[in-house]
Amino acid sequence: MTGGAGYIGSHTVRALHEAGVPVVVVDSLELGRADAVGPVDLVVGDIADGAVIRQVCEDYQVGAVVHFAAYKNVGESMTDPGKYLRNNLTGTINLLEALTAAGVDEIVFSSSCSVYGTPAIVPVDETAAIAPESVYAQTKATMETLLDWYCRTKGVRSVSLRYFNAAGASADAVIGEDWTYSMNLVPVAIRSLLIGEPAELTVFGDDYPTPDGTCVRDYIHVDDLAAAHLRALSYLAAGGVTTAVNVGTGTGSSVREVLAAIEAVAGRPVPHRIGPRREGDPVSTFADPRRARELLGWEATRDLAEVVGSAYRWHLAQVNEPE
Ligand SMILES: NC(=O)c1ccc[n+]([C@@H]2O[C@H](COP(=O)([O-])OP(=O)(O)OC[C@H]3O[C@@H](n4cnc5c(N)ncnc54)[C@H](O)[C@@H]3O)[C@@H](O)[C@H]2O)c1
Repeated sequence: MTGGAGYIGSHTVRALHEAGVPVVVVDSLELGRADAVGPVDLVVGDIADGAVIRQVCEDYQVGAVVHFAAYKNVGESMTDPGKYLRNNLTGTINLLEALTAAGVDEIVFSSSCSVYGTPAIVPVDETAAIAPESVYAQTKATMETLLDWYCRTKGVRSVSLRYFNAAGASADAVIGEDWTYSMNLVPVAIRSLLIGEPAELTVFGDDYPTPDGTCVRDYIHVDDLAAAHLRALSYLAAGGVTTAVNVGTGTGSSVREVLAAIEAVAGRPVPHRIGPRREGDPVSTFADPRRARELLGWEATRDLAEVVGSAYRWHLAQVNEPE
């Protein structure tokens, strides 16, 4: 697993380990934490380093790869595109070259709903137009295309999982999202509430054509996401062909609904103010998750209350017992 020391990776490592699947993680630790990997082996290295990847494949007899390692900050990708193109694209090309040299031909790839840009129709299904609106989203769309070509030319089969908004933490509050790096609504709202950073959360626009005027997203629990990777690996092991699959709940939640859910679990208000709309924000995007159900036998099992409840308990534990 590449990027297994990061947020979604660490939850997926845990799910694989608990299912008895042997795992080795390759992570640079630039944005991840060694302790998040738990009891499985961690090789500290870069996905772009072909020698490291070939050695790991040989040492561990790797049969399949789950590829999380990437940069993911949309805003930063617009100010420093080269950083994203180099790590996400060049890194993935080097990784694919090393994997094909080592004979590894099954890959589960972390794609993103951002490949759809602002979808014309919601819920959005996998036949929707690919229309990235950021360098980050473009790297995901291009990586999907690269995987198609490695399928045609080298027989590498892959599942690109198009995640919607990952959120939440493990039920035992042992692993979760590091709010230092996150720009996402749930961790930023909880950070504001617990430690006053920021003093007030800014809600970007409340005059959108949605029921309460705020943007609508599909918040998928990170443990549900992790489970989707196990299903995708089984699909590939059973001979499944290269494909892309939405991983979302199928339910859209507005910013106001998320804040209300956090306030319900915390028992006090999230300090916030209404700011102007943010450029490039889709009004509403949530998944049509039918394909995941039909092809992978997967569906989300946790609702928004569980997403924000688990996130709140994890962040509270971090604040009470800082490392
Ligand atoms: N979090 C979300 O809501 C979301 C949504 C859609 C897609 N994704 C994608 O899912 C993947 C995982 O996201 P996350 O939220 O866990 O991010 P994260 O930043 O927590 O984890 C990424 C991990 O990859 C590692 N990494 C980065 N570049 C590397 C390299 N060149 N070599 C080795 N390791 C490297 C980092 O150290 C980190 O541990 C990313 O590809 C991201 O684009 C995330």
